[in-house]
Amino acid sequence: MTHPELIPGLAGIPAAESSISFINGLEGLLSYRGIRIEELSAQSHYEEVCWLLWNGELPTQAQLDQFKLRLRPHRELNADLKKFVRGLPQSGHPMEALQASMATLGMVSPGVDLKSADSRLDACERVLGAMGTLIASCERHRQGLDLVEPDPELSVAANFLYCLNGERPDEIKTRVLDCALVLHAEHTMNASTFACRVVASTETSPYTAVSAAVGSLFGPLHGGANERVLRQLESIGGKENVEAWVDKKMAAKEKIMGFGHRVYKTKDPRAHDLQKLAGQLFETHGSTPLYDTALELERIVTDRLGDRGIYPNVDFFSGIVYQKLGIPTDVFTPIFALSRTAGWLAHWMEQMEDNKLFRPGQIYTGRKDVHYVPMAQR
Ligand code: CMC
Repeated sequence: MTHPELIPGLAGIPAAESSISFINGLEGLLSYRGIRIEELSAQSHYEEVCWLLWNGELPTQAQLDQFKLRLRPHRELNADLKKFVRGLPQSGHPMEALQASMATLGMVSPGVDLKSADSRLDACERVLGAMGTLIASCERHRQGLDLVEPDPELSVAANFLYCLNGERPDEIKTRVLDCALVLHAEHTMNASTFACRVVASTETSPYTAVSAAVGSLFGPLHGGANERVLRQLESIGGKENVEAWVDKKMAAKEKIMGFGHRVYKTKDPRAHDLQKLAGQLFETHGSTPLYDTALELERIVTDRLGDRGIYPNVDFFSGIVYQKLGIPTDVFTPIFALSRTAGWLAHWMEQMEDNKLFRPGQIYTGRKDVHYVPMAQR
């Protein structure tokens, strides 16, 4: 029997048909439901983008208002969930806390009837509604601070900053975070979305599927890169050190965080937009020397590795932006999760519409016909 060829990391192998988003990696194009990301980041906002991803088209004003109203009550965490958050160890990473508390949200929410479109939507709205409060609450608990009750009048972005810092954010900070949420909301069949769909395919709830996706996003090759980019920029210690630092990394054959992508072979379009956002934020809130280091790093890495298709990805500038918003470094990846929840849930719904259990094959490389040896004879 001939074996099928193994494609490491399933690179380029379609895992589903999907109409949610599209990437052209050579030209650096990304669209959600056919609309280019640049148009959405300039003109739309996160809640509208969520609706778009879930429904396939832009909402009318009435639809959007209704959607926002339905999300509001879900921002508030139920008493048992708050108790759970307050009982979490303070030593862990916020992504671990998020993964655990997302699964717990499922335990304190009504059961999901997968055959009912209304019940499926209700569960998705509960996940999306709670996400920001959950992340902020886990972080405040970790810092030993009291939890802040969500404000239903605020947008997802503003409410997140409010629950995290206990202060209402100014307009520019809200707009910048909202735009970052739009940029990270969806990105075809990446590792965490695939994880979400695999779990969804066993016909389980969005709480467990999103919890699995959070676990997948945590790793440094995926969403976990954003906090490492910032630490990397800090450790370089200034623009003048960049060249020697890159030489050392390359000689050690170590990866440079915030560069490279499985699909993009040019600069990630989201990195362009995040760079613009950083610029806007610096105009009102002052610049940071890390930005100069980042620009020099981009110049040198692109010069050395650009011919191999290695350019800045979405994580390269996001950390600089979040740091300027006053967000602790460990919370960068949870923000990615907050945003990507929209895409994960769109995929959960799409998977539920025409489900087939994921059960790939493998190429067996182990021994055959081995016999059990009793302990005394080994
Ligand atoms: N720095 C230096 N070399 C790199 C980098 C990098 N950032 N990325 C890829 N390469 C090299 C790699 O060493 C390998 O070289 P060789 O062929 O000589 O062994 C070659 O390029 C192929 O690398 P790969 O890791 O097999 O390729 P991939 O398609 O799996 O890479 C990636 C995608 C994102 C895992 C990788 O580029 C990487 O690890 N980047 C750093 C981490 C990072 O920034 N991740 C965020 C990804 S974007 C946000 C998201 O969607 O989560």
